[in-house]
Amino acid sequence: MHDGTSSRSRGRNTRREFLKSAAAVAATGLSAALPLGCGGPKAKPNSRATAPTLSQVNGPRSLRAHAAAHGMLVGCAVNPDRLDGDADYARTVADQCSILVPENAMKWAALRLTAQQFDFRKADDVVVFALSHDQKVRGHNLCWHNALPGWFASTVTRGNAAQFLTQHIQTVAGRYAGKMHSWDVVNEAVDVKSGRPDGLRDSPWLELIGPGYLELAFRAARQADPSALLTYNDYGIELDTQEQIDKRGQVMMLVRRLKARGVPIDAVGVQSHLTAGDAPGAGLVHFVRELREMGLQVFITEMDVNDRKLPDSVPERDTAVAKTYRDYLTMMLAEPNVNTVLTWGITDRYTWLNGLAHASRPDGKPERPLPFDYDYSPTPAFFAERDAIDSRRTGAQPGGDPYAPFKPGQGSPRSQYE
Ligand code: G3I
Repeated sequence: MHDGTSSRSRGRNTRREFLKSAAAVAATGLSAALPLGCGGPKAKPNSRATAPTLSQVNGPRSLRAHAAAHGMLVGCAVNPDRLDGDADYARTVADQCSILVPENAMKWAALRLTAQQFDFRKADDVVVFALSHDQKVRGHNLCWHNALPGWFASTVTRGNAAQFLTQHIQTVAGRYAGKMHSWDVVNEAVDVKSGRPDGLRDSPWLELIGPGYLELAFRAARQADPSALLTYNDYGIELDTQEQIDKRGQVMMLVRRLKARGVPIDAVGVQSHLTAGDAPGAGLVHFVRELREMGLQVFITEMDVNDRKLPDSVPERDTAVAKTYRDYLTMMLAEPNVNTVLTWGITDRYTWLNGLAHASRPDGKPERPLPFDYDYSPTPAFFAERDAIDSRRTGAQPGGDPYAPFKPGQGSPRSQYE
């Protein structure tokens, strides 16, 4: 449990904790490929953010301390190379997060150099860092149409695809069995544009195995790690635009089909890649509540708020981004089955949005989508996220409010998708 110590003493504690728990982790064989000491903050104290800023946001004022006070988990996607090479990054992740997810290190392309060879070093770095900082870990992801290794297309066939997917999940989920909070078992399998009645994306897995690949993946994951929460993760299901209503509907029908077949699924990941000014509303709340009626949790798995439509005024951009964080998270965190929030990165310095092939803002300026800016100063989005976490004190409004939580026995409302 985060004890709210100062970041400096935490630095020493972190290092001591890390070495102690890394030794414990070494016993599990995870750090076999890892030299001790990797993953912990190394260099001089953060020289960029001024002390007053740090004292405003660390220890008892950190995101993780506020989340813990409300029985929640908060965190971000991480890059193990940055954890090892950038002390400010490592310290910010250690101070602010109670759950981590590797941004890329557990994808097929990162793990599988060849059809026979796995390289777990980077993935292990993330798990060792998390364990040494009292953080949970999400796995991302076991089955996706993207980030497949170069040898995949010429090696995996209709005849062996089921075996490849099963063996991959047994090996990867099995390696971390008992250590994972949850897995994104299948990522982004729905694409309404495919025109299929079941809404499934035309993906290599659908082509090679058929629609049953999802069931295969979830059952293999449950068998490999019975303690992990198994998640279906997707994007573009947050808003009440027709396109996103349709996609959300197909995701709900997919989850219903899996549940009807007794497939082990525990949660839906709503990625939450938003644009400043987006105003998700009642449709998403009903979706979350229907999932709650089915006994499923909802994780906010990849939140960031791009500011590409806004003029080049940092204060204006930051204000609009923060409002979107505040409004969206306050609405979602009023729902009892939403207890886990991860942003897709912690600092604008390394956001994927500034690594795209084409500059996303018309003026070519880097985006500011995350709780800490390029220099590790907290942005207004940080305070908005923390306020939204604290809003759980009030929770959803009782009575006729459309956002009021379902009462036991009220029964599931007619699904908006039936
Ligand atoms: O590691 C290789 C490196 O060896 C090579 O030199 C370099 C040049 O091509 O590529 C590196 O791999 C890149 C990888 O990120 C690691 O940096 C891939 O090209 C690049 O495509 C990959 O992009 C990631 C993308 O998923 C695709 O896997 C982004 O960083 C990551 O933020 C993004 O995350 C996704 C989630 O997994 C799913 N939801 C959407 C989200 C945003 O697209």
